[in-house]
Amino acid sequence: MASKALILAAGEGTRMKSDRPKVAHEILGKSMVNWVVDAALAAGCDDVVVVTGHKAEVVEELIGTATRVRQEQRLGTGHAVMVARECVGDDAGSLLVLSGDTPLITAETLRGLISTRESTGAAVTLLTMVPQNPTGYGRIVRDEDGAVTAIVEEKDCDDRERAITECNTGIYCFDARLLFEHLGDLSTSNAQGEYYLTDMVGVFNSLGLGVTAMATARCSETLGVNSRVQLAEVTKFAQQRINERHMLEGVTMIDPSLVWIGPDVMIGRDTVLAPLTTITGRTAVGERCSIGPNSRIADSEIGSDVVIEESIVAGSRIDDEVSIGPRAYLRPETHMMRGSKAGTHVEIKKSTIGLGSKVPHLSYIGDTIMGTGTNIGAGTITCNYDGSKKSATVIGDGVFIGSDTMLIAPVTIGDKAVTAAGSAIAEDVPAGALAIERNEQYNVPGWNE
Ligand code: UD1
Ligand code: CA
Repeated sequence: MASKALILAAGEGTRMKSDRPKVAHEILGKSMVNWVVDAALAAGCDDVVVVTGHKAEVVEELIGTATRVRQEQRLGTGHAVMVARECVGDDAGSLLVLSGDTPLITAETLRGLISTRESTGAAVTLLTMVPQNPTGYGRIVRDEDGAVTAIVEEKDCDDRERAITECNTGIYCFDARLLFEHLGDLSTSNAQGEYYLTDMVGVFNSLGLGVTAMATARCSETLGVNSRVQLAEVTKFAQQRINERHMLEGVTMIDPSLVWIGPDVMIGRDTVLAPLTTITGRTAVGERCSIGPNSRIADSEIGSDVVIEESIVAGSRIDDEVSIGPRAYLRPETHMMRGSKAGTHVEIKKSTIGLGSKVPHLSYIGDTIMGTGTNIGAGTITCNYDGSKKSATVIGDGVFIGSDTMLIAPVTIGDKAVTAAGSAIAEDVPAGALAIERNEQYNVPGWNE
């Protein structure tokens, strides 16, 4: 049967004390709302609709191609579903309703929820949990036979209800047609004066339509984030879950509590990650690499047998057997070809470093294309910016750039050319030539007397 997902993400998240909407806050480099969108897609939903409202543009910018619908006035979770009706469509099938602030839910659990509802034929199947601290969650009220009779929000609880430990995760699978047919029965007669989606339990019960519940054993998956304290707690769980997966797949972590890897990162076997390493975004790392300590890699493609020590690599492509650092900074659109090196205190931006070429010490290389087997002396700088525009530097194969050369772009250095140390090179150097640009040295004898 077809299934869709509706993600509620219109709230402000007052308790975050933030200028950003709550669901835009990140966990391991990915916004909360996108964790939920991706879980729904991985669970097999054909359509994912996100309800936005507070700072809608910010959230809409994040969610890529997911369908969006705006809830201009926030009148509660039930109201958020009402505004999405047209967008979701009320054809038959399962509709998952998820919260943008419950990011760790897994595709596996969502699939279980869908199949539980479909096999029981219920109007709704709730996902429930028994958290360590139930404060703030709606309580699940059951009758003597164990059937769910209501969800009562904490603010509406009497003492007996408040003592119930089973809570609502805010994650549901509805029969879409029955949900929209009866959504109009919700009212705002409660402590917060809102349309509570949770009241659909009472509505369905009064109509004799089935309500079932599935309890999750893994509470960490369903923790909601309402404050920065909870954001940190959830990040910790995400970190553990991701790191365990990689370790079980053959990645060594010297101390997994000090390694942070984003949910979409791939890492090959026998790669070793040292402490204080962060790898996020769309990053793939090959086999037998050594990364860290103290390194940050984002949105990059890293080959095999690569060493990255105390460095930053962003938006770059690093081929096999490359060595980076200690303390290098590789900025977007850098391509390090096989066996090349970016050494200590080296910054490279939007450049290609050819096969086996080396930039070992104290250099800035920007907007440069470099050939094969070239060596760049210590302190070399490509002067790629004249204050108004950027210009390119082209360096051929087998070139030897002397230490402290200024390459004043645009400039081209031919194959096997040499530049003398300390030269400021503003004109092209032909292949095989030596370029020398220096004042003559004169010594003053006896100066110190
Ligand atoms: C909700 C549930 C509660 C459950 C808890 C689990 C209701 C009434 N209560 O409470 O039973 O235990 O989640 O985390 O549903 N939202 C909108 N539009 C609105 C209001 C909320 O899109 O008008 C979104 C929020 O952005 C958020 C989600 O719905 O992503 C949940 O809203 P929130 O206010 O956090 O509900 P809770 O009080 O946590
Ligand atoms: Ca919440």
